[in-house]
Amino acid sequence: MLTPAALSADEASRYHTLLQTHSGTEVALRAIRPDDKYQMLDIYPTLSPRTLYMRFFRVIDAPSLEDIARYTTVDFALQLAFVVTLGPEQRMVAAGRLIRATAQSKVAELSCLVVDDCQNRGIGSVLVSELFKTGHRWGVDQVIALVHSENHPMLRLLKNQGYPCEMLYDEGEFTVTLDISQEPTQANSVSYQTSIGAMHQVV
Ligand SMILES: CC(C)(COP(=O)(O)OP(=O)(O)OC[C@H]1O[C@@H](n2cnc3c(N)ncnc32)[C@H](O)[C@@H]1OP(=O)(O)O)[C@@H](O)C(=O)NCCC(=O)NCCS
Repeated sequence: MLTPAALSADEASRYHTLLQTHSGTEVALRAIRPDDKYQMLDIYPTLSPRTLYMRFFRVIDAPSLEDIARYTTVDFALQLAFVVTLGPEQRMVAAGRLIRATAQSKVAELSCLVVDDCQNRGIGSVLVSELFKTGHRWGVDQVIALVHSENHPMLRLLKNQGYPCEMLYDEGEFTVTLDISQEPTQANSVSYQTSIGAMHQVV
């Protein structure tokens, strides 16, 4: 197998690609840009309390434009941040990122969010899959995600990626660790029911 070329911070900041979800929806995925703050400002008030809670573990107040600007102005050496857009009007429907402590770190934390009316259409899956593939080229071998124990869509999405995956439960949340340095396999996408069921028995 050919080793994929490394992705520099500069290349990451200009990354864009077209993708198709498992249901056939075509989406565009690209690096986040500072001017995305305006669309994000409009999106926050549309998010349901559940979506906010699953993402932030609390229901946050709508952030200000200045708060959002900190999120959309990214140092691509430390963060690999993508947005997903839909249709010719390029409506922003999802955002996700890997964050690492230093530009040399091989470990990164994952966060992502899909707007409520576009959830369950495979968009989160293609976003995370692309973050993992490009994230490995960007220098990351291990991804950590903190997931609420009732966030079954996210737990399932992560399992479905097919990477070796470890889930540790503590006080209502799972710390999910994925080894993205290896090729994803079907065998790693173990049954959601089996794994989560087993997890709850241990608790
Ligand atoms: C979690 C989230 C990113 C998933 O994105 P999405 O686009 O809805 O996810 P997808 O459609 O790609 O995949 C979700 C999977 O969960 C499954 N699913 C949906 N509801 C489910 C439920 N109640 N129980 C179990 N599985 C469920 C779907 O069937 C799908 O699996 P499949 O591909 O095998 O059919 C999105 O729901 C979201 O933004 N949630 C709020 C914020 C959040 O939780 N962020 C993650 C923080 S760690």
